[in-house]
Amino acid sequence: MITLFGKPVAESIQKSVQQRADLFFKKHRRKPKLVVVLVGNDPASQIYTRKKGEAALQLGFDHETLHLLQTASPSEVRLHIEKLNNDPTVDGILIQRPLPTAFSENEVVFWVHPEKDVDAFHPINTGKLALGLPCLQPCTPTGIMALLSYYKISPAGKLVSVIGRSSIVGRPMGSLLLRADATVFQCHSKTPHLKEITNQSDIVIVAAGKMALVDDSYLKSGAVVVDVGMHRNSQNKVVGDVDFEKAQNKVSAITPVPGGVGPMTIAVLMKNTMDAAEMRVGAA
Ligand SMILES: NC(=O)c1ccc[n+]([C@@H]2O[C@H](COP(=O)([O-])OP(=O)(O)OC[C@H]3O[C@@H](n4cnc5c(N)ncnc54)[C@H](OP(=O)(O)O)[C@@H]3O)[C@@H](O)[C@H]2O)c1
Repeated sequence: MITLFGKPVAESIQKSVQQRADLFFKKHRRKPKLVVVLVGNDPASQIYTRKKGEAALQLGFDHETLHLLQTASPSEVRLHIEKLNNDPTVDGILIQRPLPTAFSENEVVFWVHPEKDVDAFHPINTGKLALGLPCLQPCTPTGIMALLSYYKISPAGKLVSVIGRSSIVGRPMGSLLLRADATVFQCHSKTPHLKEITNQSDIVIVAAGKMALVDDSYLKSGAVVVDVGMHRNSQNKVVGDVDFEKAQNKVSAITPVPGGVGPMTIAVLMKNTMDAAEMRVGAA
């Protein structure tokens, strides 16, 4: 059984991004720049935002967090984002989620210009992804594809279950796998006989947000399991959507939580910022 650790994969992505950032600076006399827009004081969001900033600075990017008050109105925040969209020194813009309840996700996804949309949530990017066209790609599913590729696990010709259909993880994961020639079962809370489906699957990717939803009874012998979930259990330990203890004896490879998918997300965010910077100067 192989444990699919994310750290070496994330480090190899970051190393290549750092080299590209150096070259970019030599060529254009400025650093690629990522701006994170944080609205309000959600403690977890503040930690995530700080980590993104630290990663950006470490790779030689410019970084700024635009911290707006919890009471900032959607139109006020939108104006700030418009300014960032028009600022030629800004390459990537990320709106930290969750936003306060006054914001409608269906509107917010249109705010960041598709070329600076490093989260790849803009409908132009999600549409391109679904059509298999080149675009900025969502961080977590792209990170999972990189992780599989690093460990030489090809989804081509395989039956793959994706549990979850969120716009952030499940749905784009399905699109990327389809593009990679997998046959995809896109499962969700209304899927009947989930176990029967996952039991046929060569690869099972679990992004349901339900602690220990999947145990060995969901898995066929030798399956590859990717656990996207992140929770704190009653002992305050970080755990996933998969019962690792039970699953590990049946699978051929599995991601740990923490330390599997988690490190991939930030690494791909940095890669996306670098891609956005290069695409923008290339287009200028
Ligand atoms: N490691 C990372 O970097 C990272 C990044 C993003 C997310 N996450 C974690 O990944 C998990 C999923 O995130 P998300 O944003 O995709 O969550 P989400 O928006 O809550 O979506 C969960 C999806 O799972 C489906 N689902 C829920 N219960 C199910 C069940 N019992 N059987 C089958 N499907 C079920 C839901 O179906 P319906 O659509 O029918 O409701 C939904 O599509 C969370 O634990 C989150 O913290 C981790």
